[in-house]
Amino acid sequence: MSLDQEKQIAAKEAVKYIKSGMTVGLGTGSTAAHMVNELGKLVLNGLKIVGVPSSETTKKLATEKGIPLITLENASSIDVYIDGADEFDSYMQLIKGGGGALLREKILTYNSDLVIIIADSQKEVKRLGDFKLPVETIPFATQKIEKLLNKMGLQPKLRIKDGKNFITDEGNFILDLNIADITNIPALESNLKQIPGIVETGLFLDMADIIIVGKGETAITIKK
Ligand code: A5P
Repeated sequence: MSLDQEKQIAAKEAVKYIKSGMTVGLGTGSTAAHMVNELGKLVLNGLKIVGVPSSETTKKLATEKGIPLITLENASSIDVYIDGADEFDSYMQLIKGGGGALLREKILTYNSDLVIIIADSQKEVKRLGDFKLPVETIPFATQKIEKLLNKMGLQPKLRIKDGKNFITDEGNFILDLNIADITNIPALESNLKQIPGIVETGLFLDMADIIIVGKGETAITIKK
């Protein structure tokens, strides 16, 4: 089984939670794209849902798949949010934002009644931090933040795409941090959030309700 097949297996299992009448938060990334595809097939077969996309990329894909969409401000509530992750540990803590959509993803996660994370088996880690932690920063403040985070030993790297600064859907930059040596992750989260100009971090702590992992040919469900 390839990792991509594991992602698809997890996505197929996750969409079983979706029933007609629901408002569904749609994540971003290669695993979430499988979920959007699966939901698209169900919609074609009569499932009545509306989606709230977490990025312009997902908005485009969901539109192509025929999923009716609304914006967050027009959604009275989100019943289920389904998204991928870059890492998760046994406490269901996550790093997200490899695809750069962390800000809208975190807003949707926070505003959803049930949060389902889907992943291939490689995303499971003993402790968070092999993956570089993305933080979204206001361009005006980014150089100053970079210097400060360097002093804190977090080795920030400004994310570049196609030779230019990566720009998020909200018009911000991303700094990717090395948190491999950090033991107190909740303290790191609150320290980062106190720095003016850091809009959001890719640490999703105590936010996932269910994690569905594709392992070989099966989907393993982990619940709180
Ligand atoms: C997008 O910003 C991310 O949070 C993704 O959800 C995460 O990076 C997982 O992406 P893949 O499913 O492509 O691994």
